[in-house]
Amino acid sequence: MLPREASVSVSVTDNGIGMSPEAIDKAFEPYFTTRDTEGGAGLGLAIVYGFVRQSGGDVRIASQPGKGTVVELSFPA
Ligand SMILES: Nc1ncnc2c1ncn2[C@@H]1O[C@H](COP(=O)(O)OP(=O)(O)O)[C@@H](O)[C@H]1O
Ligand SMILES: [Mg+2]
Repeated sequence: MLPREASVSVSVTDNGIGMSPEAIDKAFEPYFTTRDTEGGAGLGLAIVYGFVRQSGGDVRIASQPGKGTVVELSFPA
């Protein structure tokens, strides 16, 4: 049997506008969006969070304004 810590991770990286620390803190909250004018619903990352946690995994954001964003999903193997 595999060790309990074995995990599979998937990360998505972009070179977009990045996120402030405040936006990172709130990003998984349902309906939090900074994209009202573009029609953002604020549900994308909330849904990702729910799916990952229900699967026993975790999701983390690393981002800096102007430098892009990495979202890493990790799941038990
Ligand atoms: N790849 C990204 N680059 C920069 N900011 C992001 C990115 N993904 C999410 N965000 C920030 O997190 C907020 C919440 O994201 P999300 O839940 O997908 O909702 P929405 O895209 O509808 O606004 C966004 O409004 C934006 O501020
Ligand atoms: Mg989105």
